[in-house]
Amino acid sequence: MNRNDRREFLQKMAAASGVVLFPLWTAGCPAETPKGPTTGPIKSGASMPVPKAKPGDWNAIEFNKKRGNSGAIPKEYLSAINAGGGEMAIGKHLPYIPQENAPDGHVVIAFGKRSAGYPQHPASSDHWFDWIHVAKSGSDKGMMSKFPAWPGTEEQRKQLYVVAGGYDISDIGMEKGKLTVYLAKLPDDVKGGDILRITGHCTKHGEYVNFDEYVY
Ligand SMILES: [Fe+2]
Repeated sequence: MNRNDRREFLQKMAAASGVVLFPLWTAGCPAETPKGPTTGPIKSGASMPVPKAKPGDWNAIEFNKKRGNSGAIPKEYLSAINAGGGEMAIGKHLPYIPQENAPDGHVVIAFGKRSAGYPQHPASSDHWFDWIHVAKSGSDKGMMSKFPAWPGTEEQRKQLYVVAGGYDISDIGMEKGKLTVYLAKLPDDVKGGDILRITGHCTKHGEYVNFDEYVY
């Protein structure tokens, strides 16, 4: 399903259910390139590697807890990670692909999937995801995108972020930054229906990885 088909599908679903959808990113918007993205591998202090392909028994909470304790998460945050199941502390950092449209060559990424029961990750000038690495599951061809500041200058935020729910980019600070959606570069070997391996680095709380389907 391409972007236009997907939009039409969502509009039909909304019409059928009586739900009003917020306007999605329109095809007429310019495909701007975020500043700073480069290709390259993930640089990490963790001793535990990220699996190239999604394991059949993938458990994002358990994997990130183990990898966090191997060096991917700062020591100061490990007590929250290791308390009980650690679901909320890890869950709000898990990357996923939200239902927002992206400019060509990009994929939208958010952290903390509300529908999975996780708190959405907030953002502030000292607490945001400063890099996101995206690859097709099983592929070495990853793309690294850098987000040097949040919310950044007016020019930066227009190129790096959108706000969930169709709000204007000037509303990025709403709900303590929890509506922030990151525009990450998409590797050119990805097509609709592929599973993506997504790794993000929170400036305060370290690296987290998850897999999600690229539905476009
Ligand atoms: Fe965080």
